[in-house]
Amino acid sequence: MPKVLLLPGDGIGPEIMSQAERVLDVVNEKFDLQIETEHGLLGGSAIDAHGVPMPEETLLKAKQVDAVLLGAVGGPKWDNLDREIRPEKGLLGIRSGLELFANLRPALTYSQLASASSLRAELVSGLDILIVRELTGGIYFGQPRGIHTNDAGDREGFNTYRYDESEIKRIGRVAFESARKRNGRLCSVDKANVLEATVLWREVMNELAADYPDVELTHMYVDNAAMQLVKEPKQFDVIVTGNMFGDILSDIAAMLTGSIGMLPSASLNHSGVGMYEPCHGSAPDIAGQGVANPLAMILSLSMMLRYSLKQEAAAQAIDDAVSAVLDQGLRTGDIMTDGMTAVGTQEMGDAVVAALQ
Ligand code: IPM
Ligand code: MG
Repeated sequence: MPKVLLLPGDGIGPEIMSQAERVLDVVNEKFDLQIETEHGLLGGSAIDAHGVPMPEETLLKAKQVDAVLLGAVGGPKWDNLDREIRPEKGLLGIRSGLELFANLRPALTYSQLASASSLRAELVSGLDILIVRELTGGIYFGQPRGIHTNDAGDREGFNTYRYDESEIKRIGRVAFESARKRNGRLCSVDKANVLEATVLWREVMNELAADYPDVELTHMYVDNAAMQLVKEPKQFDVIVTGNMFGDILSDIAAMLTGSIGMLPSASLNHSGVGMYEPCHGSAPDIAGQGVANPLAMILSLSMMLRYSLKQEAAAQAIDDAVSAVLDQGLRTGDIMTDGMTAVGTQEMGDAVVAALQ
């Protein structure tokens, strides 16, 4: 029987996770999936209970299941802790502990939401981009790193941007394969005019291209990519990039679609075990008010069913139900536009559940 670990996390995490759990209960029954769930702690909630952001037990459980579903971690309550035990360390720890090197972040504009974007609707309607972000290397994990006082008595903060060839190859292959299944266009984003690590990145991508003659590979500097994403976003199909650039570009891409509250993501390792989470964070400013948009969380569940558990029919049913509630005009605050019906977290969950039944 497939097993799934649920990590609600902090802030709005628990609220949106309970809506995803209701949806999971419905599809479990309806499609006879026999998925078993268990809960775990990660981030601030784990710090409160155990003093560390990623308890041993959480990683152990995560290694024994078929997939992990994560809400979000972090919040002001834990912001002043030593940086080694901040909630974000829990997230980075589980990504690295499970070797989830491939982060897939689709940015898809729902036709119903094109007018919720901060860009003109014609620029974003029909937008369908996939950002493939390297997730367990680059400057996020490079050594040496730290803050120390140098010989001149000045404090100095430093990080290391590094990638080895095999890390670039494995994420490159995921990106080429994804492009092959989509529209066959891959744009690799780097800063090869300045950073050696990305000169190598570009070289390796060019070498890989020989194995994928059906995919058209282009390269773009990251500053230009940021500009092109807001200028003419529909020029992109698949974007592949390193950890930090991917972090930044995926927030830009998310916002094009109307709201970051709509976007799920998948983080995969070699064996296809994955962790699924919304692209947005824990939104402490609205936590506990029942107003958060649960759709990115619910769509993350759908991605989990599709990619890790191979339950395409159940995943499609969830995607259709989400589209149906948008058709009904239901909107949480983040995607609200004139003439639509404002709903809270729970009502949005109710509507998805009803659309599934
Ligand atoms: C994300 C987040 C994380 C990241 C933070 C919370 C560590 O911004 O998933 O994009 O930088 O990867
Ligand atoms: Mg981010």
